[in-house]
Amino acid sequence: MKNNKPIFETTTLWDFPTQNYGDRPHGDNKYSGVTPAFVIWNLIQRYTKEGDLVVDPMCGSGTTIDVAKELNRQVIGYDINPYRKDIIQNDARIIPLKDNSVDFIFIDSPYSDNIKYSEHPADIGRISCEKEEFFNELEKVAQEIYRILKHDKVMAWLIGDHWRRKSGFIPVGFKIYQMLTKYFETVDIVCVARRNQTSNTHIWHERARNFNFFLRGFKYLFIMRKKA
Ligand SMILES: C[S@@+](CC[C@H](N)C(=O)[O-])C[C@H]1O[C@@H](n2cnc3c(N)ncnc32)[C@H](O)[C@@H]1O
Repeated sequence: MKNNKPIFETTTLWDFPTQNYGDRPHGDNKYSGVTPAFVIWNLIQRYTKEGDLVVDPMCGSGTTIDVAKELNRQVIGYDINPYRKDIIQNDARIIPLKDNSVDFIFIDSPYSDNIKYSEHPADIGRISCEKEEFFNELEKVAQEIYRILKHDKVMAWLIGDHWRRKSGFIPVGFKIYQMLTKYFETVDIVCVARRNQTSNTHIWHERARNFNFFLRGFKYLFIMRKKA
């Protein structure tokens, strides 16, 4: 690691770091919903070793691919709407990999239909988290993650909560966590602070005042091990 800084974040509240991770760009910061590379960097360093196979079933602009390659891990990145040539077009509900074949999985799924990723009919980001269907479809993804992950290996799922004018606050994170506990044991829960992201804008401050809700400044990172 450069500047003699430690490789790992050492708390379970992760803020956007001032130092850069690695030498090259990871993913595309202009991609709506891009995952901060330091989240994936920390996970891959902790839960894998060189040569291990890392998979991201919803890899968006390819951040996981870039971080994993830089750390000399094998990597496969899928997405329903591939953003780059090295991303394989695939629906995360049916992953074309053998049972028990993957060392680590990272996923940053849609949190609702708040970001328009694509027009693809199988894009789960087109389903509102106000509907049970949203959670049912993400459970299918969790089942595939469970199936392809090797015994005793770890996966990490990044997700945030949601507020809607009609339905109010929806605890998307807690609902996803509850679903995940059917298949995985909890290793850790990390709060990833996101204060410089889109909710910190004038329009959201106005809405928060008008409708009396807190601006949520964090996402959950659920780190979980495959149950026997
Ligand atoms: C939050 S973004 C992922 C961001 C990514 N980690 C990055 O750093 O760029 C969620 C992704 O899920 C993808 N997605 C939505 N439904 C999907 C599905 N059924 N199968 C695979 N990918 C899907 C979207 O296309 C989008 O790229």
